[in-house]
Amino acid sequence: MNKRNFLKSLIAVSVLATTGAISISSQAAEITKLGFLVKQPEEPWFQTEWAFADKAAKDLGDVQIIKMAIPDGEKTLNAIDNLAASGAKGFVICTPDPKLGPAIMAKARSYDLKVITVDDQFLNAAGEPMTNVPIIMMAATEIGERQGFELYKEMQKRGWNVNETAVLAITADELDTARRRTEGSISALVKAGFPEKQIYKSPTKSNDIPGALDAGNAMLVQHPEVKNWLIVGMNDNTVLGGIRATEGQGFKPENVVGIGINGTDAVSELSKPKKTGFVGSLLPSPDVHGYRSTEMLYKWVKEGIEPPKYTPIGDPVLLTRENFKAELEKKGL
Ligand code: GLA
Repeated sequence: MNKRNFLKSLIAVSVLATTGAISISSQAAEITKLGFLVKQPEEPWFQTEWAFADKAAKDLGDVQIIKMAIPDGEKTLNAIDNLAASGAKGFVICTPDPKLGPAIMAKARSYDLKVITVDDQFLNAAGEPMTNVPIIMMAATEIGERQGFELYKEMQKRGWNVNETAVLAITADELDTARRRTEGSISALVKAGFPEKQIYKSPTKSNDIPGALDAGNAMLVQHPEVKNWLIVGMNDNTVLGGIRATEGQGFKPENVVGIGINGTDAVSELSKPKKTGFVGSLLPSPDVHGYRSTEMLYKWVKEGIEPPKYTPIGDPVLLTRENFKAELEKKGL
């Protein structure tokens, strides 16, 4: 090699080394932005999912979670525009309305954003679940069945006369996970021997305490003959609305049993110094929902690993006034 060629190759090597160094250091500094969009940020359930999405981001190291509240369709579509503008690569979402599924996916695709759903599954134009979009959700039927089973057990424990007892089932059938939970609960009650004709369904207009309170009131006034009520509902707030309705109409906690679902949203009720009819709540795993969905999305974006289409999360713990602090602590909640 003559001197000139030697110099040339020396320059080439150093250029290579420098560009290599630049790309390595820019890679290390590059933060992947991922959105986490939830329909009801006021529910501790969703706050817990957010907290564990952040925990996953911290463990993964080079991720930033952009948390957004999306209470309606317009805010949802705007949020996706904003995410894309900020350079995000994908998002986890609990939609305010499952029917927005096709619109959300069309917008996400236009920006090449990856989507993982959590809790509530998208529906297509025909009203069928969009099974091609990955979903992480609680095992709805099973958790509902557990609610029905626990309600029946508590009724027996209290020695109630079945003939003087009825079920107030506050329903939200447009939301498939809600329908599956309440149907699971009712079927478990019937299977245990509760008379089907004493199970009264009342649909709620909104998935919050005021909506469920109205639905409960509307049904209670129609059945003045009932002495004891068991309350079925898709989550803590729905059951709490039912409990508030019984209280408003003069029922004592001794004559009411409600068991919620979510756990996280039952903490203030279970902390009350005076017992209410709300005896407990089934806590699934909002921590796992938040953590795992974030991790799956990250791996999909960074490593091209496609997540499974369906990840059901089961095995809820029954929180009661006695154990709820310890059980929540065990899960780091
Ligand atoms: C639905 C409910 C929430 C919570 C989640 C859990 O989204 O609205 O309260 O129960 O399911 O999957």
